[in-house]
Amino acid sequence: MPGFGFRFRISRDLRGGSMANVREIPVAELTAEQAKAEIDDLTGAINSAAEAYYRRDDPEIEDSEFDGLKARLKDIEERFEELKAPDSPTGRVGAAPAEGFEKARHAQRMLSLDNAFEDADVHEFDGRVRRFLGLSPNDKVDYTAEPKFDGLSISLSYENGRLDRAATRGDGTVGEVVTRNVLTIDEIPEAIDDAPSSMEVRGEIIMLRTDFEELNRQQAEAGAKTFANPRNAAAGSLRQIDSTVTRARPLHFFAHGLGMVSKPLAASASEAMKRLEAFGFTTSGWIAKCAGVAELLAHYRRIEEARADLGYDIDGVVYKVDSVGLQARLGNSSTAPRWAIAHKFPAETAWTRIEAIEIQVGRTGALSPVARLQPVTVGGVSVSNATLHNEDYIAGKDSDGAAIRKADVRVGDWVKVYRAGDVIPKVADVDLEKRPRDSEPYVFPDECPACGSKAVRPEGDAVRRCTGDLSCPAQSVARLKHFVSRPALNIEGLGDRLIEQFAEEGLLKDPADIFELEDRIGEGENKLADRHGWGEKSADNLFSEIRDKRHVPLAKLIFALGIRHVGEGVSGRLARHLGSWESFRGTVLGAADKEGEVWDELVSLEGIGRVIADSLVDAFSRFETSGLAERLTKHLSIEDHAGAGAAAGALAGKVVVFTGTLEKMTRAEAKSRAEACGVRITGSVSKNTDLVVAGAGAGSKAKKAAELGVDVATEDQWLEMLNSASDT
Ligand code: IVH
Repeated sequence: MPGFGFRFRISRDLRGGSMANVREIPVAELTAEQAKAEIDDLTGAINSAAEAYYRRDDPEIEDSEFDGLKARLKDIEERFEELKAPDSPTGRVGAAPAEGFEKARHAQRMLSLDNAFEDADVHEFDGRVRRFLGLSPNDKVDYTAEPKFDGLSISLSYENGRLDRAATRGDGTVGEVVTRNVLTIDEIPEAIDDAPSSMEVRGEIIMLRTDFEELNRQQAEAGAKTFANPRNAAAGSLRQIDSTVTRARPLHFFAHGLGMVSKPLAASASEAMKRLEAFGFTTSGWIAKCAGVAELLAHYRRIEEARADLGYDIDGVVYKVDSVGLQARLGNSSTAPRWAIAHKFPAETAWTRIEAIEIQVGRTGALSPVARLQPVTVGGVSVSNATLHNEDYIAGKDSDGAAIRKADVRVGDWVKVYRAGDVIPKVADVDLEKRPRDSEPYVFPDECPACGSKAVRPEGDAVRRCTGDLSCPAQSVARLKHFVSRPALNIEGLGDRLIEQFAEEGLLKDPADIFELEDRIGEGENKLADRHGWGEKSADNLFSEIRDKRHVPLAKLIFALGIRHVGEGVSGRLARHLGSWESFRGTVLGAADKEGEVWDELVSLEGIGRVIADSLVDAFSRFETSGLAERLTKHLSIEDHAGAGAAAGALAGKVVVFTGTLEKMTRAEAKSRAEACGVRITGSVSKNTDLVVAGAGAGSKAKKAAELGVDVATEDQWLEMLNSASDT
C-alpha cells in the first residue's frame, strides 16, 4: 500500500523537514543527527515491509520502493559506519522479518461452534442433545444464552493463581503466545485468589466500535493501514511484536468459558461464570439461564434488539447446555462441542453489479464459478467476490431443476449479495429491471480454463470437474494450498502467493516438492535468500518451518491429502479406526477391488460408508501409482493416532461392534465414550473384531461373533470395562 506510515514519522522526527525534503538531502550532506533518525525509520520501514511480504504474504509497498529504501539505508550506513546497527536489514540480503511469536499447545483444544441460522435449527439442536442423552421431550434441560462476541479467541492459563501464559487460538491445538500483550488489557487479571491450581480461562478480545473508528482515523491520518472492522483491528493490535503498541490500543476482554481446569469451578456453566466474575473477569451482562428452546429464542430476540447499542460487534447468540455433567457426557465432535451451538444473526445484504464471472479450479478439479463484483460494503466488510456455486445455481435452479430465484445470473447484472459470518458472500437476488438489454446467458465452459482438459459433469452431479488431474496446474496449486493450510500441515510462511509463485517457476507441483524446496533453492544459483524481499534469516525461517512440519499426526496427514469427501471429521475417524499410516495405507490399498473382506471392513467403519471408501480408494490408487505416496512419506514422520496407543487403558485400539438395543445410554453416547477410550468401532463382525457389545434383542451379529469365537459382552459388562478404562 503506498502512503506507508513511516513517511509521517520521518518528517515528525526531524521537526519540520518534510519527507520529500529529507530524502532529497544528499547523503553526503546529512548531519549525524539526521542520519540517525533516518536510519531508525528506514530500518523500521524495511523490516515492516519484509514482514508484510514474507510473513503475511501481503506486500505493503512496491518492489521498487522497497529497493529504494534499502539502497538509501546502505548509502547512509556507508557514510556513518558507526551508526550501522549490527542487525541492520542491509546486512541480510533481503531483510528478515521481526521475530514471530512463540508457540504453545493448549491444555485442552480450542474448538469451533456449530451454527444455527433458523429457529428450526435450534429445535433440532435441542432434539440432538436429548437424543444423545436418551432424554424425552418432557425431561428438563437447562441452557444458557449469551452474545457471540465477534473478536479474537484467547486462552489464558493460570497456574497457582497467576497468569502464566496467554495464547491465541491458532489451529485450535497450538496457538501463539501473546502473554505480554494480553497483560496490557486492564480486564485481564494477572493474579487471582482462590483459583484452582491450573485453569484455562477462555474468552474473546474485542475492540469497541468507537475505539475502532478513532483508531482508523488516526491510522489514516498517519498514512498507515486502516482496518476493515473492529475484529481485524483487535487482532492486528494484539498480534504486535512490540507490546507497547498493544498497550496504546484500547482492547477489552470478555470471559465466556473454561478450558482445562484442575478442579471444576461449579456444577453448571452459569455458576462457573459467576465464579469467573468473582475472580475479576468481565463477562457478558447478557447471560441468561433458559429452561428450553422457547426461552432461548426469546433471549435471542432480546439480544438482537440490543445489538446496535452494545457498542461492540456480536454475530449471534451462543446456547450452551448448562450442566457441566451433561456437557461432559455430550463431549465433542471432531470440530465442535455437542453441548453448544451459535445461533447466527441473519446475513447482511447489499446490491452491486457483476463485472465478470470467472471459473476457479479446486483441488478435486471442481469448476467453481465466482462473481467478480463492483466492491460494496456488506455489514462493514468490503466485498468484491461472491460464490456462484455451480452452473445450475447460475441458471437459477437447484439440483432438481426447481427455481431458486426468479432469473439466471449474468455478467452486468445488479445482484443482491449477502454474507453471514466468515462465509464467502453469496448472490441472493437479481434486479431484472436493471439488466442490460444486450446481456446474454452465461455459458458454462466444458473445458478446464487452466489446463484445457475436458470438464465433465456426471449424471446427477451438480459439479463439473476438470479431468486433467495431476497434469492440471490449477488443481495442483489448490492441492498445495490445502496441504499447507491450518487444519492440514499448517506450514506458516508458505502462503498462497508464494505457492503460486513457486508453482509458476516449476519448483512446486505436489506436496512432496515442499520438502524438497530446501535442496532446490536453499543454496546455489537460484538461492531463495538472494531473492528480492528475502534474506538468509527469512529463508532459514521458511525452511525450518517446513522441516518442523515433517512430523505430522496421522489425522492431519489424511486430511492434508485433500481427498474428496475426506474432511477433518472423516480424517479423524479414519485415524482413530486405523491407528497408523501403515494400517491406513494397507486397508485402502487392500480395498482396491472394491469388494472382499478389506473393502467390507473399510465400508463398515463407523462414519465411513461407500461414498467415502470409493473416493479414498480412487484417490489412493492415483497417489500410489504416481509415486507421490512414496516420495511424500519418505520426508515425513507420521505420528500414530493417539487413541491407539496413548489413550491408555485396556480398551485402547480394540475393535468393537455394537448390536441390539442399549438401555443405559444411547448408541451415540456409547460410541462417543468408547472412542474417547481409543476404541475403534466398526459395523460388521469379522475375525478382526475384538468384542461385540450385545444389547437387548441382539441377533445375527451376536450369532456371527459366536461362530468366529469373538468375545461378546452385555451392556453392563461393557459399562464396567468402560469405567475401569477411563479411570486409568
Ligand atoms: S463458547 C467452542 N461463548 O466463538 C467452545 N464462544 O465459533 C465453546 N465465541 O472460538 C465456546 N463468543 O472463542 C463461546 N459467548 C461465547 C462466545 C464464543 C465468541 C467464540 C469462541 C470460539 C468461536 C467458535
